Amino acid sequence: MNNIDMSVTISGVHLKNPVIAASGTFGYGSEYEGLIDVSRLGGICTKGLTLNPRPGNNGMRLHETPAGLMNSIGLENPGIAAFIEKELPRLRSLGPAVIANLSGSTIEEYAEGARLLGETSIDMLELNISCPNVKAGGMAFGLDSEAAAAVTEKVRKACANKPLMVKLSPNAPDIASVAAACVDAGADALSLVNTFKAMAIDIYLKKPVFENVSAGLSGPAIRPIALRMVWELWEALRQYGKVVPIVGMGGIANTEDALEFLMARAAAVQIGSATFAHPAAMIEIIDGIGNYMRREKLSKIDELSIR
Ligand SMILES: Cc1cc2nc3c(=O)[nH]c(=O)nc-3n(C[C@H](O)[C@H](O)[C@H](O)COP(=O)(O)O)c2cc1C
Repeated sequence: MNNIDMSVTISGVHLKNPVIAASGTFGYGSEYEGLIDVSRLGGICTKGLTLNPRPGNNGMRLHETPAGLMNSIGLENPGIAAFIEKELPRLRSLGPAVIANLSGSTIEEYAEGARLLGETSIDMLELNISCPNVKAGGMAFGLDSEAAAAVTEKVRKACANKPLMVKLSPNAPDIASVAAACVDAGADALSLVNTFKAMAIDIYLKKPVFENVSAGLSGPAIRPIALRMVWELWEALRQYGKVVPIVGMGGIANTEDALEFLMARAAAVQIGSATFAHPAAMIEIIDGIGNYMRREKLSKIDELSIR
């Protein structure tokens, strides 16, 4: 039996395995404690945090589609100060690496949030410039290279002591340019994809399902597109000479799905919507990757890469 080492290091952050709970789908970790052994996860991304508390969007927030899930949560969260005081100590004690997902409406708000989080024990900052469900800021920063670079640079300066991962939008017309601009502005790693902008209509009420009209699509429906984006982004960064670790996600629901992303050169994967339907999905994926590595006689995660 070969010895396997499932740990990965992303921009200096050690994860005991490459499976991370995706932002917005795992609360602050402790919510799942009675359901699964949370300590087995490689990392946990918090729900999107903003400087001030946000109540989130009115109206419908979740809507299922064939093989997918649409959401319009609108970044409901208690604000960064409350997170630091009430949630972080428990989250920290669970064991997995702690990745704080940061959002904002203005660059100043992002920077101040980053500064506060930089003074805590978090392991990494995930800068969310890709939320499609807020009217101001959010995805607007992630669609354009200049805007993405501006917010990345400010956050980098405000939080110089933490590794910075920028979460990209699949809705950007030119993801590779946005990614390169973020790396130039100080991003240590990139994660993708956030949700795809989508829409549903209630044919009986004869109006859009969501108050904001559009919402973000996640789940198995987006997986092949997300995988293609991860594959192409790695190649684009290589050509630019700007390779940084890429954390892949989008519709991963089982071991095979996760392996596809790791083979496409994702340094780690995040799992979101699958956890709602099956809370043990991440644990099964960790075990499944280990079994695959033993069967294939691989000893390290990066040996999974097919490029
Ligand atoms: C209900 C819900 C809430 C989400 N909230 C956030 C968030 O606060 N910040 C963020 O960066 N991504 C958020 N996301 C996006 C996920 O982290 C992930 O990028 C996306 O859902 C694709 O992965 P999946 O198909 O495995 O769910 C949310 C997704 C869902 C379904």
